[in-house]
Amino acid sequence: MILGSTRAGRLCPTIGKWVIDIARSCTSLDFETIDLRDWHLPTDDEPGIPALGKYEKDHTRAWSRKISSAAAIVIVTPQYNWGYPAPLKNALDHLYREWNDKSLVIVSYGGHGGNKCAAQLRQVADGLHMRTIKTMPAIDLTDEIIKGGPVDPVRDFANHVETVRQAIGELEAQMQQAL
Ligand SMILES: Cc1cc2nc3c(=O)[nH]c(=O)nc-3n(C[C@H](O)[C@H](O)[C@H](O)COP(=O)(O)O)c2cc1C
Repeated sequence: MILGSTRAGRLCPTIGKWVIDIARSCTSLDFETIDLRDWHLPTDDEPGIPALGKYEKDHTRAWSRKISSAAAIVIVTPQYNWGYPAPLKNALDHLYREWNDKSLVIVSYGGHGGNKCAAQLRQVADGLHMRTIKTMPAIDLTDEIIKGGPVDPVRDFANHVETVRQAIGELEAQMQQAL
């Protein structure tokens, strides 16, 4: 699971953990959290285009190995100004073939569930030839939460649990079909 936000004070790890807890409760799939804060990926230091896969920098090679090692991807991301965060786009754009054919679950959150960011991410995932799962959970945050109020995902997002389960179920089915 990739955390889409690297912002100071972000909610993303809390929401990501809640997603993984649900996912672990309904499948035997193994989940690892990938925090983009731990991945220093400068935007401008690879001279070749990612689609050629000839990386010069150790950090790009390490990122390539990390994504290659994943059987599928779950992205948990906030909506920022109707899109998704720039560090997430940057992390996607660093690679190409590594994403190809991978199943992808998109979980968005925001004032209205982050539907617009999910739609944009879906389009980019199509460009990367990923296999996006049809159900895209969109967690709506209250104004109080957005303004920094307390968050208890189990209580506050209870009405989204079934959709997350549904998306993870579709992911598992798609991965089994691919075997
Ligand atoms: C730069 C920025 C832009 C935002 N734009 C939107 C938006 O377009 N729609 C929305 O519903 N929420 C928006 N929000 C509110 C976020 O959904 C909310 O702050 C959320 O907690 C951000 O995720 P994070 O805390 O994991 O970074 C925005 C927040 C930030 C920081």
